[in-house]
Parts: sequence; structure tokens; C-alpha cells
Amino acid sequence: MKMESEVLRHPGHINSDVARWREDFPVLRETIRGKPLVYLDNAATTHKPVSVIEAEAAFYRHTNSNVHRGVHTLSQRATDEYEAAREKVRRFINAASTREIVFVRGTTEAINLVAQSYARPRLTAEDNIIVSAMEHHSNIVPWQMVCGQTGAELRVVPVNEAGELDVEMLGHLIGPGTKLVAITHLSNALGTITPVKRIIEMAHAHEVPVLLDGAQAIAHLGVDVRELDCDFYAFSGHKIFAPTGIGALYGKETLLDAMPPYQGGGDMISSVSFGETLYNELPYKFEAGTPNIAGAIGLGHALDYVSSVGIAAIAAHEHALLEYATELASGIKGLKIIGTAQQKASILSFTLEGVHPHDIGTILDHDGVAIRAGHHCAMPIMQRFGIGGTARASFSLYNTHAEVDALIAGIRKVQEMFQR
Ligand code: ALA
Repeated sequence: MKMESEVLRHPGHINSDVARWREDFPVLRETIRGKPLVYLDNAATTHKPVSVIEAEAAFYRHTNSNVHRGVHTLSQRATDEYEAAREKVRRFINAASTREIVFVRGTTEAINLVAQSYARPRLTAEDNIIVSAMEHHSNIVPWQMVCGQTGAELRVVPVNEAGELDVEMLGHLIGPGTKLVAITHLSNALGTITPVKRIIEMAHAHEVPVLLDGAQAIAHLGVDVRELDCDFYAFSGHKIFAPTGIGALYGKETLLDAMPPYQGGGDMISSVSFGETLYNELPYKFEAGTPNIAGAIGLGHALDYVSSVGIAAIAAHEHALLEYATELASGIKGLKIIGTAQQKASILSFTLEGVHPHDIGTILDHDGVAIRAGHHCAMPIMQRFGIGGTARASFSLYNTHAEVDALIAGIRKVQEMFQR
């Protein structure tokens, strides 16, 4: 891998690895109003490499049949490809067994599943669930719903001015009634990497299981669920170069086994009569109905792609981009970076004095620079910082230092327009 320092000295130069990676993503050749696309909204969704696009198309061209149902060749082929994708997910996060990998629509569905199937039967009005102040709505609202259903309490671990989790406070909040700790691995709004190993050790000392929201982390940090010893890990495919509408929930087998199904329907049963229904084995017990077969196959190819590049190479490149962007953004008067944790990845969230984030986003778009503006589905953390929203640039392996330059030039242009 090329060293970041080399690139930093020549910010206009694209190193050969990045140039090669860019070739894999056809959408990067798009122009926006005649300007090259500068896509810095990877935390919302990533683009897809050719291998993923072709794998999805190939499924519909050559296979297209339902899984686990037919005796005919195409159905068996579809089942083999779908189950091969599950094995790729298992390997990617180092789960012990494919029985621990449930295909879901994405992180949101994974967390709702755990809230309803794991937490709900265990919660009483004396109990509590712990989340942090920097969670995405998908790791808040399902817990609020289940607390509403059971009378349990939702406890919130605060974050400091830098956007770092107050781990000591977590220690105070965990008590005998705590049934689960649900924390982001990497904040989508701030870029903070949370100290998950420590959180898990603290929770386990009280025999409390931990769910990690890995929606952002999965594409930027190496995830090894056995090394982390997390109890549940949720992620979405589309944040890691796979299609939308597919994701995975990892759960320790003993926990998943003891949980009732989330939804009822086809494929999640072993036998049905009006007297009694017996549920299927893991993981099918949690996969009612026809799944997103092509999406799962696409996810498998996306994980192959990431593995072929190497998560360490991706992380190093994104870290270099984030450092470069942070340094340049810090030099802009009136720009305030929201989220300055020691441990950060891939996300630069900021406000600009006197300018609404939506205006920043709209003006940048005129120059082909795509960022996200708003509360990023994390309104409580915006409230924590006393703001309505931020502008957010989020990086991926195909971004370049020149694109960071374009972002910074765009921000300066916004400032000039508003100072006129
Ligand atoms: N959760 C996604 C984001 O942060 C949509 O943009």
C-alpha cells in the first residue's frame, strides 16, 4: 500500500491503488451538471463495484428461483448461492457458525428483531436497556418501543464535548435490572469509534449481553465477533458496497436458540397444523418469507471485494483522507467540527457559522460534491451539541485527496456567497 504521507505531499496525485479501486465503481464516472462526481456521502450508502452489480444481474439472468423450497435445479442453485453468501458473512466477521448469521433487511431490522425477540420477553417494569447519546434512531426507537411495551426504562450513556462515550458513567448505569447494552461501534453522526471491547467487558461482568450497531463500522474497521465477544452484531449490506435491502444479524447461538421467532410465515417453520406449529432450526427460524436472495448473493460478492482489497488498506487510506480533511477544515474560520474524538473513522461532521447545513449541501451539489446535511437520523446527539444538524462528508476507499480539496474549495465558496 502507498504511504499516506506520500499522498499528502502531493494532494492532487491519486495513488495507483485508489485509481485501480475507482475503476471498479462505474458510478464514479458520472458527472453532475458537467462536473465530475465527488461522492462524499458514503455513510448514507456506498457505491457498488462491478462484481456486485454483475452478481445481482447474473442471479436474475441465470438462476432466479426461490430458496429452500424447490427440488428443481434452479432452486437448488439459488439455495446454494444464498447459503454460500451466508458462509461469506460468517467468515467476514469470524462467527463460529452460519447458524449465527440471520439475513435481514439491514441494521434497522436486525435491531428490531433483537428488541422484540430477545428483549421483550425478558423485560419488566423493574428492568432497563442502555444505549448511548450518539445512537442512530435505529438504535433508539426500537428500544423506546419495547420499553413502552414492557414498562422498562431506557438509560442513556452521555458523551463528552469531543463526542466520546462516558465509559465511567456506563459503569454507574449498569445495574441488576439491565437486560441489554446496545451501542454503536462507529457513530454515523460524529465518526467516533466507541471502546467496544471495554464496554463488552464491563457489561459481561454484570452478565449483561451487548448488541453492537455495526452499520458504519463494518466497512471501516475489522470486525471479529468472537474476538470482541459481542452477543449481537447488526449491519447493513449497502454501507459496505452491497445492494440495499440486505444485511445481517449476528447473534451467539445460545441466545438466538432461546429466542422466539420475530415474524411468522413460510420457511421459518418445520411443521404447521392448526393444533401446533414447530419452528425451523437456526437461522431459518428468523427468516420468514422469501428473502432478498439476489441481495444476499450481492452482499457475499461485496465482502469478497473488501477482503480482496483488505480492510487494513481501506482503513489506512480513509484515515489519511480524514486527517487531511480535518487539517484543511480546521483552517476555515467559522467552521466547527462536531465530533473530535481521539478515535475516529471516515466521517467529518461540521457546522459553518451563519449557514444552514442544507444550504452547504445544496451549494456543494452544484459543483458535483455530494455530502449529507441534517440530523443524520441521530437527533439526540444533535440536541446534545445544541444544533439542528451538521454537514457531513464521509469517506470510502475510492475517495481521493483531490476530492477533499474539492470539498474544501466548495465550503470556501459557500462562505463567500453568504458573506456577500
Ligand atoms: N444512517 C445513514 C446515514 O448516516 C442513512 O446517513
